[in-house]
Amino acid sequence: MNENLADLISQKLPQPVFRLIQGAGRAAAVSSQDLYLVGGVVRDLLLGRPSSDIDMMIEGNALQLAATMSSKSDKKPILHKRFGTATFKIGDYRIDLATCRSESYTYPGALPTVKSGNIKQDLFRRDFTINALAVCLKPGRFGRLIDYYGGRQDIENKLVRILHAKSFQDDATRIMRAVRYEQRLGFKLEPVTLKTLGRDLNMLDTISGDRLRHEIILWLGEAQPEKILKRAGQLGILSSLNTSLAWDPLWKKTFPTARKLSKGTQLTQLYFALLIYSLDKKQCDTLLKRLGVDGGEFSEIAADTLKLKYNPEGLDKSGLKPSEIYARLSRYSKAAIQVHALCSSSLHVRRNLKLFLDKLATEKTYLNGKDLMQMGMPEGRKVGLILARLLAARIDGEVRTRADEMRLARKLING
Ligand code: CTP
Repeated sequence: MNENLADLISQKLPQPVFRLIQGAGRAAAVSSQDLYLVGGVVRDLLLGRPSSDIDMMIEGNALQLAATMSSKSDKKPILHKRFGTATFKIGDYRIDLATCRSESYTYPGALPTVKSGNIKQDLFRRDFTINALAVCLKPGRFGRLIDYYGGRQDIENKLVRILHAKSFQDDATRIMRAVRYEQRLGFKLEPVTLKTLGRDLNMLDTISGDRLRHEIILWLGEAQPEKILKRAGQLGILSSLNTSLAWDPLWKKTFPTARKLSKGTQLTQLYFALLIYSLDKKQCDTLLKRLGVDGGEFSEIAADTLKLKYNPEGLDKSGLKPSEIYARLSRYSKAAIQVHALCSSSLHVRRNLKLFLDKLATEKTYLNGKDLMQMGMPEGRKVGLILARLLAARIDGEVRTRADEMRLARKLING
């Protein structure tokens, strides 16, 4: 079948992106090299899904092609000379240009040994047939679909299929990618792939903490990560990643609610806090260690989530002054607070946290440290204490205007 995607490409991609791709195909042909669109963009074009990450592979020299294109147009690429690749950016679109290569793995989980190769070899080193499709960009054959491994049929049949039996052993992150695509696209794992995945679960041990963390963040970046987590739980992927991890039925409700409620907090962090909320301290430590999380934002979110879980700061009662709620929560990360506002079994905790998130967290004083110093306050620790006192007064409605605040500040400075 000689399917041609030229019309689809010109309809679905913005004209400047289309022109760049077309121009690249022409420029490559001048030096007798063939250029292809590959991977996710081809899959997404066929599925009618948007895709702003575009990969082009050349049977030849990517940097040379980038230089030729750059000399003929105002679109200047970013060159990654060490990797022999180039990136063009057009609006939200990122177009990567690389050289076709063949890969072999010396041992499971190793970085591959790479040699330059042709498009067939380049497609063969990929994870799934649906990601191993290419489109020829050569003038005269522009738009022709290249399908060596049956990806077109698998898209038709909604199947995620590996290209060969050693695929998950070569790169076990593909186990995590498999469920990500399956759930994102509403596909199924093809039966042999499913069986191979089960056989190779222990290969996840070969993956470094950094790579594992990256894949989990990709899970959490999907539209409905709870579906991926559920499936990963069913297939034994979660427990193989780390003994602490298991599907928590609570996530079926809390993830969608988190999506609806997340105001400002980045969803990935919120989802991560939801994962941690299901664990105890020891399980959390084991997981963080496995993911190579040591310090930084994720450490903080995890620590805060568990601190609030085991010691909700005396917030499980009514009648607290808003400033007391503020004082108890202001040092916690927002994601940890939001998760407890969603999951705590105590109505009072939920109410107090919600008040903090909806109102108190954004309260500000009219005056700042500089203002206090202009009012005669010497520099020092007391400036911070007075500002905190002013904020508490404002949060409790004791002062409403700037003049009120100045009066109180004067009293505190002199007192
Ligand atoms: N790839 C692979 N094995 C991996 C990672 C990537 O074979 N472990 C290949 C796949 O062919 C994939 C391409 O590299 O299509 C680009 O990877 P990535 O950007 O992660 O995936 P996309 O297909 O662009 O999909 P997504 O929509 O998830 O970004």
